Amino acid sequence: MEIKISAFHPLSLTTPRLLLRFVTPEDAGALFRLFSDAEALRYWSSGPWLHIAQAADNIEQTLKAYQDGTALRLAMVLPDGELIGTVTLYDFDRRNHRCQIGYMLARPHWGQRYMQEALAALIAHGFGALELHRIEADIHPDNIASGRILEGLHFQREGHLRERWFVGGEISDSIIYGLLRKDWHAAIHRTQ
Ligand SMILES: CC(C)(COP(=O)(O)OP(=O)(O)OC[C@H]1O[C@@H](n2cnc3c(N)ncnc32)[C@H](O)[C@@H]1OP(=O)(O)O)[C@@H](O)C(=O)NCCC(=O)NCCS
Repeated sequence: MEIKISAFHPLSLTTPRLLLRFVTPEDAGALFRLFSDAEALRYWSSGPWLHIAQAADNIEQTLKAYQDGTALRLAMVLPDGELIGTVTLYDFDRRNHRCQIGYMLARPHWGQRYMQEALAALIAHGFGALELHRIEADIHPDNIASGRILEGLHFQREGHLRERWFVGGEISDSIIYGLLRKDWHAAIHRTQ
């Protein structure tokens, strides 16, 4: 049976400390701060943004992706309204019930387990409402924190692909992680 995704309609997910909600044009300033931080973008698949116009373009693409169902990107928001990151399900392969997951957290908020919290909620939504069977992640081999987060969320390291990304004139390998719905449910069951 095909996964039924057409448009994504506005939704929000709540975690103990965060609201995850649709991105809006008003988020341009916060997204620019996030994606113009060269240190945070160190292992990202494209370079840091240099102009605020890139934030507007990026938001336009995000809104289009909600409409055509190609990516579900949610802003991570603190109770005071501060946007501290984004989490995204993208590259949906509907016939095979799978997609990729990506994430970005603002540097001042690293080390406080916000990303683990946000990703757990997004994954639960993916395996629940979106009826996914498998979620994949593709990370830079040196991105230790990212790998640790995925492993903590029960992803398995499945492969090492060579020379897959050109960023800023440098070529880098990918570590591929995968999480199956049955493994997620078994892990959640064990911790309940
Ligand atoms: C990747 C990212 C989400 C990690 O968030 P974070 O808040 O910095 O992560 P944490 O500090 O909780 O670290 C995660 C784990 O890695 C461990 N870790 C971090 N750096 C480490 C290092 N250099 N060596 C060993 N372990 C390390 C932490 O101790 C923690 O382990 P634990 O879960 O056992 O406590 C965040 O750094 C980020 O958004 N980076 C930029 C964007 C990015 O790289 N996204 C991923 C691309 S797919």
